[in-house]
Amino acid sequence: IFAAGSRGRRDFHGKTVVVIDVLRATSTIVTALTNGCLALYPVADPGTAALFRRKLGSDCLTGGERQGLKIPGFDLGNSPLEYTAETVAGQRIILTTTNGTQAMLEAEHAAEILIASFLNAGRTSTYLADKAEVVFFCAGTKGEPGLEDLLCAGLMTERLLASGVEAELTDAARIGLVAYRHLMGRPEADPVAVLHQAQHARGLVALGFSDDITYCAQIDSRPCVVRFRDGRITLLPEA
Ligand code: MLT
Repeated sequence: IFAAGSRGRRDFHGKTVVVIDVLRATSTIVTALTNGCLALYPVADPGTAALFRRKLGSDCLTGGERQGLKIPGFDLGNSPLEYTAETVAGQRIILTTTNGTQAMLEAEHAAEILIASFLNAGRTSTYLADKAEVVFFCAGTKGEPGLEDLLCAGLMTERLLASGVEAELTDAARIGLVAYRHLMGRPEADPVAVLHQAQHARGLVALGFSDDITYCAQIDSRPCVVRFRDGRITLLPEA
């Protein structure tokens, strides 16, 4: 059963949960890890990040956003373009964002938690092929599903079906699939233009983050599987 969930869905026991926050938390995480970051630690709020930093020691960075902007006193915001190899290689990063890291923390009772974005959608869907029950947990914005996350869930569903997986889709998963096929699945489709239609993208453009949207639309540009386990987000080693 493949489901595109939003934050109201809580029944994650025994399931593989794929957290998606294309704009921008999961794109930022995938970027950081593929640029050499050792691990990220999602936390609920800036105060917890400060406490956690004391526990980990000063040799780690803090990253994240509130209202799209870098949190005062933090090392990094939530733009994936900030998470360059020069900045993050060999580092551990404590991350807190408005919706994305909250979704990860809410998924803690799942059998397995993966982190996905357009950047690593293909490799993630290959990894999902033999899982019995998958929930695509679309972080959205304050409980409302976001177009960009639904499209990413739809892309992974499309890839799974194309690989021959026989899936029973929930209505929510079907909505993601139909949206993906209609807006992005045609050869002439322009993922950058489609992502710019999303409500959250319009807010990011107003804050000057238009380049982030272009970056986050790059399908399969960073092939990897990312897992959240025991409080840490890391790359899954290649099989
Ligand atoms: C979030 O977690 O709400 C987002 O990643 C916000 C953002 O675009 O920075």
